[in-house]
Amino acid sequence: MLEILRETVSWLRPQIPAETKIGVILGTGLGDLAHSITDKKEIPYETIPHFPVSTVEGHNGKLIAGQLGGKPVLAMQGRFHFYEGYDMKQVTYPVRVMQLLGFEYLFVSNAAGGMNGSFQVGDIMLIEDHINLFPEHPLRGKNDKELGTRFPDMSEAYNLKLRKLATSIAEKNNIKLQYGVYVGTQGPTFETPAEYHYFKIIGGDAVGMSTVPEVIVARHGGLKVLAFSIITDLGVYGKIVEVSHEDVQKAAKIAQPKMAFIMEEVIKQL
Ligand code: HPA
Repeated sequence: MLEILRETVSWLRPQIPAETKIGVILGTGLGDLAHSITDKKEIPYETIPHFPVSTVEGHNGKLIAGQLGGKPVLAMQGRFHFYEGYDMKQVTYPVRVMQLLGFEYLFVSNAAGGMNGSFQVGDIMLIEDHINLFPEHPLRGKNDKELGTRFPDMSEAYNLKLRKLATSIAEKNNIKLQYGVYVGTQGPTFETPAEYHYFKIIGGDAVGMSTVPEVIVARHGGLKVLAFSIITDLGVYGKIVEVSHEDVQKAAKIAQPKMAFIMEEVIKQL
């Protein structure tokens, strides 16, 4: 694994400014954040040695190196989902690459269904914690000490200082933020009403099909994480309507400028 990773990293290293410490994963319908990145250099996934290739609609599949909030960042436009058939090592491969590139921060976004009764479509939820319901763990298998410890701590998977910073930026700029627990499931089905209810009972506020694997690997690798869900549909009794991937993309697109603003301001203040 490490040898293969090192090949990817040595190929990428010369293409990315050495001072880059921030990785960004852009979720479904949230690729527009890339428009705020300046001095862009785009690197299609298919040109990167050993990188998986994205297949799902709404994901373009490239790395974007450039400046955001006055700092060099590396953004992933398009991520790899477990439901697409990738295994967990592939889903999390880009995060390992960021780790070996010496990154310090990972910013993540996703689209999610809201179970919390006070949420509305278009809300942004700052992820405070997660519940991992994926059927395979990204760290299953032999642990490579060079990448991280066998039994990583998860008491603060979502960095408290970064969350406080995001909260104060949202407050100062009158942007409504919701807060809660993200439940990560494999998909690709959206939830039945009973499943939304179950996820609420176990402590979830929003549910989606991504993020948890990447965050686990980021924490294993020592990166500090900040993550947001855009609430694109509601899994709340009485408010559940039929939902499609297109609806999710549309709702995410509407909310994303606010999330992009918060992310950019957080980066400015790092
Ligand atoms: N469930 C799971 N994943 C999702 C949802 C949902 O309701 N909305 C957007 N991604």
